[in-house]
Amino acid sequence: MRYQGGKVKASRYYAPMFNEFIRRHGFVNYVEPFCGSLAVAEKIKCENIICNDANDYLITLYKALQKGWQPPIHINRKDYYKIRSNQKSFDPELVAFAALCGFGGCWFGTYATGGERARLKILLKGRQGEDCSNEVFKSLIRLQLIIANWQFYNLSYDRVKTPSKSLIYCDPPYENTFGYKAVEGNFNSILFWNWVRSSIKPDNLFIVSEYQAPEDFVSIHSFRSNQINNGVEHGGLKKCDKLFIHKSQLNLIK
Ligand SMILES: C[S@@+](CC[C@H](N)C(=O)[O-])C[C@H]1O[C@@H](n2cnc3c(N)ncnc32)[C@H](O)[C@@H]1O
Repeated sequence: MRYQGGKVKASRYYAPMFNEFIRRHGFVNYVEPFCGSLAVAEKIKCENIICNDANDYLITLYKALQKGWQPPIHINRKDYYKIRSNQKSFDPELVAFAALCGFGGCWFGTYATGGERARLKILLKGRQGEDCSNEVFKSLIRLQLIIANWQFYNLSYDRVKTPSKSLIYCDPPYENTFGYKAVEGNFNSILFWNWVRSSIKPDNLFIVSEYQAPEDFVSIHSFRSNQINNGVEHGGLKKCDKLFIHKSQLNLIK
């Protein structure tokens, strides 16, 4: 599923690495304080999976799926804009579903038809496009089985519990990038890094995705891709996404 800042491509590399850390250290919890579209979490093998996001519509959607809610197979342009302009009149899970059908995975971006998507794909990659809302539908139906026993929270990241024996993967809004429409306020990266420092315990491993980090954090992996960020595909302009850990935890990854 396309999502602003989503890690669909990177997850193919990150998830096996995280699964290996989980296995090696006997972690029993996998925690994602900024879970977004669950692109990484859905590939994780761990006893307990705890996901959080400040976007309340998104978390309501995941909880609704856990209760058996069936998303629509398709959403047309007219309904999309009707939901977008009257969000309070619709069930929050339907609002989230519609929002995910925005162009380029951008929350309530321009309505993405197969035609628009097809044109973009042909332009960028020479590939055929498809019906975007049906693609979101299929992704959610697949997720429904995977997330059945997960715990979901709708909190600010700094209120998420990080129990012992946890691998905590943070994929926050990146510094100096546009914010997230569905989340109020500007993200403060300095406070975020301080929170990571103060939450580190001997039996936890924190891994953070960012382009850059303060000096006491070390890059353990780089991923270069035409990734979607802020709903814009950086065509030729390739950004290097990195995974960081605090230098005091380096011994855990050797
Ligand atoms: C880079 S995206 C995560 C993408 C996710 N890894 C994926 O693959 O889809 C960052 C997420 O952080 C959420 N967010 C923004 N501010 C937050 C906050 N203060 N606390 C928790 N989540 C927040 C946004 O709603 C967004 O889903």
